[in-house]
Amino acid sequence: MRVHVLGSAAGGGFPQWNCNCRNCDGVRRGTLNAKRRTQSSIALSADGAGWLLCNASPDILQQLQQFPALQPARALRDTAINGVLLIDAQIDHATGLYMLREHRQKLPLWCTTPVFDDLTRGNPILELLKHYCGVDRHEIPLDARPFAMPAMPGLQFTAIPLISNAPPYSPHRDDPVPGDNIGLLVRSLDSGRSLFYAPGLGRMEPPVWSAMRSADVVLVDGTCWRDDELVALGASKKTARDMGHLPQTGAGGMLQWLGELPAGARRILIHINNTNPILDEDGAEYAQLRAAGVEVAYDGMEIEL
Ligand code: MLT
Ligand code: MN
Ligand code: ZN
Repeated sequence: MRVHVLGSAAGGGFPQWNCNCRNCDGVRRGTLNAKRRTQSSIALSADGAGWLLCNASPDILQQLQQFPALQPARALRDTAINGVLLIDAQIDHATGLYMLREHRQKLPLWCTTPVFDDLTRGNPILELLKHYCGVDRHEIPLDARPFAMPAMPGLQFTAIPLISNAPPYSPHRDDPVPGDNIGLLVRSLDSGRSLFYAPGLGRMEPPVWSAMRSADVVLVDGTCWRDDELVALGASKKTARDMGHLPQTGAGGMLQWLGELPAGARRILIHINNTNPILDEDGAEYAQLRAAGVEVAYDGMEIEL
Protein backbone atom coordinates (compact mmCIF):
# COMPACT_ATOMS: atom_id res chain seq x y z
CA MET A 1 0.00 0.00 0.00
CA ARG A 2 1.14 3.50 -0.81
CA VAL A 3 0.10 6.44 1.33
CA HIS A 4 0.68 9.90 -0.12
CA VAL A 5 0.19 12.96 2.07
CA LEU A 6 -1.58 15.55 -0.07
CA GLY A 7 -2.11 18.11 2.69
CA SER A 8 -0.58 18.03 6.17
CA ALA A 9 -1.96 21.26 7.67
CA ALA A 10 -5.08 21.77 9.76
CA GLY A 11 -7.89 24.07 8.66
CA GLY A 12 -6.47 27.36 7.44
CA GLY A 13 -3.32 25.81 5.97
CA PHE A 14 0.18 27.10 6.55
CA PRO A 15 0.66 30.00 6.30
CA GLN A 16 -2.96 30.93 7.01
CA TRP A 17 -4.11 33.87 4.86
CA ASN A 18 -4.96 36.23 7.73
CA CYS A 19 -2.47 35.05 10.34
CA ASN A 20 0.70 36.78 11.47
CA CYS A 21 1.71 34.43 14.24
CA ARG A 22 5.44 33.70 14.53
CA ASN A 23 5.12 30.73 12.18
CA CYS A 24 2.93 32.26 9.47
CA ASP A 25 4.87 35.53 9.42
CA GLY A 26 8.20 33.71 9.52
CA VAL A 27 7.44 31.35 6.64
CA ARG A 28 6.10 34.25 4.54
CA ARG A 29 9.24 36.29 5.16
CA GLY A 30 11.53 33.29 4.64
CA THR A 31 13.04 33.73 8.12
CA LEU A 32 11.67 30.45 9.54
CA ASN A 33 12.93 26.99 8.60
CA ALA A 34 9.50 25.52 7.89
CA LYS A 35 7.58 23.95 5.01
CA ARG A 36 4.39 25.48 3.64
CA ARG A 37 1.47 23.11 3.93
CA THR A 38 -1.96 22.70 2.37
CA GLN A 39 -5.08 21.50 4.20
CA SER A 40 -5.73 18.02 5.44
CA SER A 41 -5.96 15.11 2.97
CA ILE A 42 -4.17 11.88 2.13
CA ALA A 43 -4.40 9.47 -0.81
CA LEU A 44 -4.13 5.69 -0.56
CA SER A 45 -3.45 3.05 -3.19
CA ALA A 46 -2.79 -0.68 -3.27
CA ASP A 47 -1.33 -0.70 -6.79
CA GLY A 48 -0.21 2.88 -7.43
CA ALA A 49 -2.80 3.14 -10.22
CA GLY A 50 -6.15 3.61 -8.49
CA TRP A 51 -6.35 5.96 -5.51
CA LEU A 52 -8.75 6.71 -2.68
CA LEU A 53 -8.81 10.26 -1.37
CA CYS A 54 -9.28 10.42 2.37
CA ASN A 55 -10.85 13.85 2.73
CA ALA A 56 -11.35 16.40 -0.03
CA SER A 57 -9.46 19.52 0.99
CA PRO A 58 -10.28 23.03 -0.24
CA ASP A 59 -6.70 22.94 -1.60
CA ILE A 60 -7.38 19.85 -3.72
CA LEU A 61 -6.62 21.41 -7.12
CA GLN A 62 -3.14 22.43 -5.98
CA GLN A 63 -2.67 19.00 -4.39
CA LEU A 64 -3.63 17.23 -7.63
CA GLN A 65 -1.15 19.33 -9.57
CA GLN A 66 1.58 18.42 -7.12
CA PHE A 67 0.90 14.68 -7.38
CA PRO A 68 0.88 13.60 -11.07
CA ALA A 69 -0.07 9.97 -10.24
CA LEU A 70 -3.62 11.24 -9.79
CA GLN A 71 -3.79 12.27 -13.47
CA PRO A 72 -2.78 9.26 -15.62
CA ALA A 73 -4.04 10.92 -18.87
CA ARG A 74 -5.60 7.82 -20.45
CA ALA A 75 -8.49 9.73 -22.03
CA LEU A 76 -9.64 13.28 -22.74
CA ARG A 77 -11.22 13.47 -19.28
CA ASP A 78 -9.55 11.19 -16.74
CA THR A 79 -8.56 10.73 -13.13
CA ALA A 80 -6.92 8.09 -10.96
CA ILE A 81 -9.26 9.00 -8.08
CA ASN A 82 -11.50 5.96 -7.63
CA GLY A 83 -13.38 7.38 -4.68
CA VAL A 84 -13.43 9.78 -1.76
CA LEU A 85 -13.82 8.88 1.91
CA LEU A 86 -14.61 11.57 4.47
CA ILE A 87 -13.59 11.16 8.09
CA ASP A 88 -15.82 14.07 9.14
CA ALA A 89 -17.82 16.94 7.64
CA GLN A 90 -15.43 19.78 8.53
CA ILE A 91 -14.78 22.49 5.93
CA ASP A 92 -11.10 21.49 5.60
CA HIS A 93 -12.09 17.89 4.79
CA ALA A 94 -15.20 18.23 2.65
CA THR A 95 -15.32 21.39 0.57
CA GLY A 96 -12.83 20.05 -2.00
CA LEU A 97 -15.76 17.99 -3.30
CA TYR A 98 -16.92 21.13 -5.13
CA MET A 99 -13.69 21.12 -7.12
CA LEU A 100 -14.37 17.58 -8.37
CA ARG A 101 -17.73 18.57 -9.89
CA GLU A 102 -16.52 18.01 -13.47
CA HIS A 103 -16.25 14.26 -12.83
CA ARG A 104 -17.79 12.26 -15.68
CA GLN A 105 -19.77 9.93 -13.43
CA LYS A 106 -21.26 10.20 -10.00
CA LEU A 107 -18.37 10.56 -7.60
CA PRO A 108 -18.07 7.49 -5.34
CA LEU A 109 -18.28 8.88 -1.79
CA TRP A 110 -17.86 7.01 1.49
CA CYS A 111 -19.08 8.68 4.66
CA THR A 112 -21.01 7.96 7.85
CA THR A 113 -24.67 8.89 8.27
CA PRO A 114 -24.02 11.93 10.56
CA VAL A 115 -21.49 13.26 8.03
CA PHE A 116 -23.94 12.67 5.17
CA ASP A 117 -26.64 14.51 7.14
CA ASP A 118 -24.38 17.50 7.84
CA LEU A 119 -23.39 17.65 4.17
CA THR A 120 -27.00 17.59 3.00
CA ARG A 121 -28.39 20.10 5.56
CA GLY A 122 -26.01 22.38 7.51
CA ASN A 123 -23.56 22.59 4.63
CA PRO A 124 -25.52 21.07 1.73
CA ILE A 125 -22.56 20.32 -0.56
CA LEU A 126 -24.10 17.02 -1.62
CA GLU A 127 -27.36 18.73 -2.59
CA LEU A 128 -25.53 21.28 -4.72
CA LEU A 129 -23.38 18.61 -6.34
CA LYS A 130 -26.57 17.00 -7.71
CA HIS A 131 -26.53 19.85 -10.25
CA TYR A 132 -23.05 18.73 -11.38
CA CYS A 133 -21.65 15.17 -11.18
CA GLY A 134 -23.56 14.07 -8.08
CA VAL A 135 -22.26 11.45 -5.71
CA ASP A 136 -22.68 7.70 -5.43
CA ARG A 137 -22.85 7.50 -1.67
CA HIS A 138 -21.74 4.45 0.33
CA GLU A 139 -22.35 4.22 4.04
CA ILE A 140 -19.38 3.64 6.33
CA PRO A 141 -20.33 1.01 8.94
CA LEU A 142 -19.79 2.12 12.54
CA ASP A 143 -19.76 -1.32 14.15
CA ALA A 144 -16.00 -1.85 13.69
CA ARG A 145 -16.75 -4.36 10.91
CA PRO A 146 -14.02 -4.38 8.25
CA PHE A 147 -15.31 -3.40 4.84
CA ALA A 148 -14.02 -3.47 1.29
CA MET A 149 -14.41 -1.02 -1.55
CA PRO A 150 -14.88 -2.65 -4.96
CA ALA A 151 -12.91 0.21 -6.54
CA MET A 152 -10.00 -0.29 -4.14
CA PRO A 153 -9.11 -4.00 -4.29
CA GLY A 154 -6.31 -5.07 -2.00
CA LEU A 155 -7.27 -2.77 0.85
CA GLN A 156 -9.42 -3.53 3.86
CA PHE A 157 -10.98 -0.68 5.84
CA THR A 158 -12.28 -0.41 9.39
CA ALA A 159 -13.87 2.76 10.76
CA ILE A 160 -13.43 3.55 14.43
CA PRO A 161 -15.96 6.09 15.72
CA LEU A 162 -14.15 8.59 17.90
CA ILE A 163 -14.68 11.80 19.81
CA SER A 164 -13.30 14.86 18.07
CA ASN A 165 -15.91 17.48 17.14
CA ALA A 166 -18.54 18.05 14.48
CA PRO A 167 -18.24 21.29 12.48
CA PRO A 168 -19.48 24.55 14.01
CA TYR A 169 -22.53 24.51 11.67
CA SER A 170 -23.59 21.00 12.76
CA PRO A 171 -26.40 20.36 15.26
CA HIS A 172 -23.88 17.96 16.89
CA ARG A 173 -21.23 20.58 17.60
CA ASP A 174 -20.04 19.97 21.20
CA ASP A 175 -22.75 17.27 21.47
CA PRO A 176 -21.27 14.31 19.63
CA VAL A 177 -23.06 11.36 18.07
CA PRO A 178 -21.16 8.26 16.89
CA GLY A 179 -19.95 8.83 13.35
CA ASP A 180 -19.43 12.60 13.51
CA ASN A 181 -15.74 11.71 13.35
CA ILE A 182 -13.95 8.47 12.63
CA GLY A 183 -10.46 7.11 12.66
CA LEU A 184 -9.61 4.82 9.78
CA LEU A 185 -7.67 1.59 9.96
CA VAL A 186 -6.50 0.47 6.51
CA ARG A 187 -4.86 -2.90 5.99
CA SER A 188 -2.94 -3.94 2.91
CA LEU A 189 -4.07 -7.47 2.04
CA ASP A 190 -0.81 -7.89 0.16
CA SER A 191 1.69 -6.98 2.89
CA GLY A 192 -0.62 -7.48 5.89
CA ARG A 193 0.57 -4.11 7.20
CA SER A 194 -1.76 -1.38 8.35
CA LEU A 195 -2.20 2.34 8.76
CA PHE A 196 -4.24 4.15 11.42
CA TYR A 197 -5.33 7.60 10.24
CA ALA A 198 -7.05 10.10 12.54
CA PRO A 199 -6.36 13.79 11.81
CA GLY A 200 -8.94 14.74 14.45
CA LEU A 201 -8.71 12.84 17.72
CA GLY A 202 -9.97 14.44 20.89
CA ARG A 203 -10.25 11.56 23.33
CA MET A 204 -8.32 8.30 23.55
CA GLU A 205 -11.13 5.82 24.19
CA PRO A 206 -10.32 2.08 24.42
CA PRO A 207 -11.43 1.08 20.86
CA VAL A 208 -9.38 3.94 19.41
CA TRP A 209 -6.32 3.00 21.42
CA SER A 210 -6.64 -0.64 20.46
CA ALA A 211 -6.90 0.24 16.73
CA MET A 212 -3.92 2.55 17.10
CA ARG A 213 -1.86 -0.10 18.84
CA SER A 214 -2.60 -2.61 16.11
CA ALA A 215 -1.20 -0.42 13.32
CA ASP A 216 2.28 -0.42 11.81
CA VAL A 217 2.05 3.29 11.06
CA VAL A 218 -0.07 5.87 12.89
CA LEU A 219 -0.84 9.16 11.19
CA VAL A 220 -2.62 11.10 13.90
CA ASP A 221 -3.82 14.45 15.16
CA GLY A 222 -0.94 16.92 15.39
CA THR A 223 -3.06 20.09 15.51
CA CYS A 224 -1.70 21.83 18.61
CA TRP A 225 1.38 21.50 20.79
CA ARG A 226 -0.32 23.02 23.83
CA ASP A 227 -3.95 22.75 24.84
CA ASP A 228 -4.14 26.54 25.33
CA GLU A 229 -2.06 27.36 22.23
CA LEU A 230 -4.69 29.51 20.48
CA VAL A 231 -5.94 31.04 23.74
CA ALA A 232 -2.41 32.07 24.78
CA LEU A 233 -1.89 33.73 21.37
CA GLY A 234 -5.18 35.59 21.69
CA ALA A 235 -6.35 33.88 18.48
CA SER A 236 -9.33 32.03 19.96
CA LYS A 237 -11.17 31.34 23.19
CA LYS A 238 -11.11 27.61 22.51
CA THR A 239 -8.58 25.10 23.70
CA ALA A 240 -7.35 22.32 21.43
CA ARG A 241 -9.50 19.85 23.39
CA ASP A 242 -12.58 22.11 22.99
CA MET A 243 -12.08 21.83 19.24
CA GLY A 244 -11.72 18.06 19.41
CA HIS A 245 -7.94 17.79 19.21
CA LEU A 246 -5.66 16.16 21.80
CA PRO A 247 -2.69 18.47 22.28
CA GLN A 248 0.76 16.92 21.98
CA THR A 249 1.90 17.96 25.46
CA GLY A 250 0.53 17.74 28.99
CA ALA A 251 -0.95 14.83 30.88
CA GLY A 252 -2.80 12.48 28.54
CA GLY A 253 -1.43 14.37 25.54
CA MET A 254 -0.61 12.74 22.22
CA LEU A 255 3.12 12.39 22.91
CA GLN A 256 2.40 10.37 26.01
CA TRP A 257 0.17 8.00 24.01
CA LEU A 258 2.63 7.73 21.14
CA GLY A 259 5.32 6.81 23.65
CA GLU A 260 3.28 3.79 24.69
CA LEU A 261 2.89 2.32 21.21
CA PRO A 262 4.72 -0.93 20.38
CA ALA A 263 8.40 -0.36 19.66
CA GLY A 264 8.26 -0.97 15.90
CA ALA A 265 5.37 1.41 15.20
CA ARG A 266 6.02 4.46 13.04
CA ARG A 267 4.52 7.59 14.64
CA ILE A 268 3.63 10.55 12.46
CA LEU A 269 1.72 13.73 13.31
CA ILE A 270 -0.58 15.25 10.67
CA HIS A 271 -3.22 18.05 10.53
CA ILE A 272 -0.74 20.52 12.00
CA ASN A 273 -2.16 23.91 12.92
CA ASN A 274 -0.19 26.91 11.67
CA THR A 275 0.41 28.06 15.26
CA ASN A 276 2.10 24.80 16.29
CA PRO A 277 5.80 25.36 17.17
CA ILE A 278 6.72 21.92 15.71
CA LEU A 279 6.53 23.56 12.26
CA ASP A 280 9.82 25.33 13.03
CA GLU A 281 12.40 22.70 12.09
CA ASP A 282 15.10 24.56 14.00
CA GLY A 283 12.99 24.73 17.16
CA ALA A 284 13.24 22.90 20.47
CA GLU A 285 9.81 21.29 20.04
CA TYR A 286 10.80 19.74 16.70
CA ALA A 287 14.01 18.42 18.25
CA GLN A 288 12.02 16.98 21.14
CA LEU A 289 9.75 15.12 18.70
CA ARG A 290 12.66 13.71 16.75
CA ALA A 291 14.30 12.51 19.96
CA ALA A 292 11.02 10.75 20.81
CA GLY A 293 10.94 9.07 17.37
CA VAL A 294 7.94 11.09 16.23
CA GLU A 295 7.77 12.42 12.66
CA VAL A 296 5.89 15.43 11.33
CA ALA A 297 4.00 14.85 8.08
CA TYR A 298 4.61 17.24 5.19
CA ASP A 299 2.91 17.69 1.84
CA GLY A 300 4.26 15.10 -0.60
CA MET A 301 5.37 12.67 2.13
CA GLU A 302 5.15 9.05 0.93
CA ILE A 303 4.67 6.07 3.21
CA GLU A 304 5.02 2.50 1.95
CA LEU A 305 3.25 -0.24 3.85
C1 MLT B 1 -10.84 21.43 12.95
O1 MLT B 1 -10.14 20.47 12.62
O2 MLT B 1 -11.04 21.70 14.15
C2 MLT B 1 -11.51 22.24 11.88
O3 MLT B 1 -11.26 21.67 10.65
C3 MLT B 1 -11.11 23.66 11.90
C4 MLT B 1 -11.61 24.39 10.70
O4 MLT B 1 -11.44 23.94 9.55
O5 MLT B 1 -12.17 25.48 10.83
MN1 MN C 1 -9.63 20.18 10.63
ZN1 ZN D 1 -0.41 31.46 12.02
